[in-house]
Amino acid sequence: AEVVIVESPAAAGTLVAEAVLRLVRSRPDAVLGLATGSTPLPVYEALRARVGEVDLSRVRGFALDEYVGIDPAHPESYRSVITREVVGPLGLTPDRIRVPDGSVEGIEHAGEDYERAIREAGGVDLQLLGIGGDGHLGFNEPGSSFASETRVKTLTEQTRADNARFFDSVDDVPRHCITQGLGTILRARHLVLLAFGEGKSEALAAAVEGPLTASLPGSAIQLHPRVTVVVDEAAAARLA
Ligand code: F6R
Repeated sequence: AEVVIVESPAAAGTLVAEAVLRLVRSRPDAVLGLATGSTPLPVYEALRARVGEVDLSRVRGFALDEYVGIDPAHPESYRSVITREVVGPLGLTPDRIRVPDGSVEGIEHAGEDYERAIREAGGVDLQLLGIGGDGHLGFNEPGSSFASETRVKTLTEQTRADNARFFDSVDDVPRHCITQGLGTILRARHLVLLAFGEGKSEALAAAVEGPLTASLPGSAIQLHPRVTVVVDEAAAARLA
C-alpha cells in the first residue's frame, strides 16, 4: 500500500476529495464506494466545499453496509446517514446511490441483489474505507472470509459499543448488519483506507504490515494492487 501521513483529518479530506474529483472529471458517471462512520466525514466535507467545480449528478455510489431491521427513516440508518451527509450536500442523484437493503422482509435476496447491482454498474472505481478498532472493514468482523460477498453478519459487542454514540444507548444498536464482503471490497479498482487517532494505530499497522489473517479483516488490503492509506500521525504511530 501507498501510505500517506497527513497533518489532520481535514488535510486527509482535502487530499482524498481531490482524488475523487479527478476521477469524476475523467469519468462523470464514476462509481464510488461510500463508507459511513466518523472517518470519511472530512472527505465529504472537503467535497462539499468544492461542489460546483465538477458535475456530480451522474456519479453512482454503493454504500458498504447497513444495519438489519432498522427503520430506513431512522436518523442513524446508513441510508439516512448517506442521504444526509453525502447525497444531499453533494447534490448526487438519489436513485444512483444504493445502500444495502437491511429490511427483514428482503434480507434473503438483499446480498445477491447488491452484488448484482455492483456488477451491473461495472464495479466500484474508488472505495472509501475506514477501519474498526478490531480491524474490521465494512462490517466484516474478525473471522470473515477474504472471499466473502454481501451478506448478513452479527456485529461484535465491541462494534456495538463503539457505535452506541450514534444511538440513545447500546441496547438500541442493532445486532445484525448487511455488509459488502471482503471479496466485494477487493474487487473495487482503488481502495482508499483512512484512519485517524491513536485508537486506530494498532489495527492500522496490523492491516498494512501484519500477517494476512481473517482475524484482522483489514489485512485483506494487502491482496489488492492499488491501495492508498491516508492517516494522521496518531494512527500511523505503530507503522514500522
Ligand atoms: C462504515 C464501516 C465501518 C467503519 C469503521 C470505523 O461504513 O463500514 O467499517 O469504517 O467501523 O468507524 P469510524 O469511522 O466511525 O471510526
